[in-house]
Amino acid sequence: MDKRLLTCVSLCRGRRIADIGTDHGYLPCYMAAEGLCDSALACDTAPLPLESAKANIRENGLEDKVTAILSDGLEKVPPEGLTDIVIAGMGGELIAAILQKCSWLTSAQPPVNLVLQPMTKWDHLRKWLYDNNFIVTAEKPCISGRFVYSVMQAHYAGEKPPYPCDLRYLYCGLVTPETQDGREYLLRQSKRLEAAAKGKAASGDDNAALEMKTLAAELLLRIDSEIGTNGPK
Ligand SMILES: C[S@@+](CC[C@H](N)C(=O)[O-])C[C@H]1O[C@@H](n2cnc3c(N)ncnc32)[C@H](O)[C@@H]1O
Repeated sequence: MDKRLLTCVSLCRGRRIADIGTDHGYLPCYMAAEGLCDSALACDTAPLPLESAKANIRENGLEDKVTAILSDGLEKVPPEGLTDIVIAGMGGELIAAILQKCSWLTSAQPPVNLVLQPMTKWDHLRKWLYDNNFIVTAEKPCISGRFVYSVMQAHYAGEKPPYPCDLRYLYCGLVTPETQDGREYLLRQSKRLEAAAKGKAASGDDNAALEMKTLAAELLLRIDSEIGTNGPK
């Protein structure tokens, strides 16, 4: 279990977990073995990764707690009693498409806790969540190797979240600069904004370019002021 998957685990709340795109099944096996859930579903759309998840379940003697399911997204996942859905290590567009295709997600009571970790297109996923009345309640940035990720915790709220769907939300979500992982995430987003601003300027969209450059500069200031106030953490 690497730090990225452990960060996903830390945002799970309930007792029955579905891990969508489980690959080796590390997350559900770890949670079940450590008593962090009562039962778990290890789900994947591809037979080969699912075989590897099944082997992991067997080797750890977790057959009574972890069930492997061949499923495209949430298609074959039984919703009964499900408290948490983890979708990690995929692009933000694919994560949004999987959520979009699920017919019961918006009627589950209490709402299912979603733990989402996009590798790319985080802005697409954040916009989809906002447009479809899902609120992001927490976000944990995480440095793992050369990469910095953000893991989102969200649920269906049935109404627009109380924050705006602006450039800051799309690029940074709820990430703050109080930790080193948070600062690194915001630093990388600042660089991405700078690069995107150049593209906008080149295509003649000066307003968008200015908005992006302004946010990029604001993020750097926030990072500096956090280090200046509290020293590195
Ligand atoms: C890069 S792995 C991520 C594994 C693990 N979740 C993690 O974060 O380390 C992506 C996995 O998602 C699976 N996958 C891709 N599209 C899927 C879909 N529509 N439904 C379920 N699984 C999918 C792939 O087969 C692959 O095993």
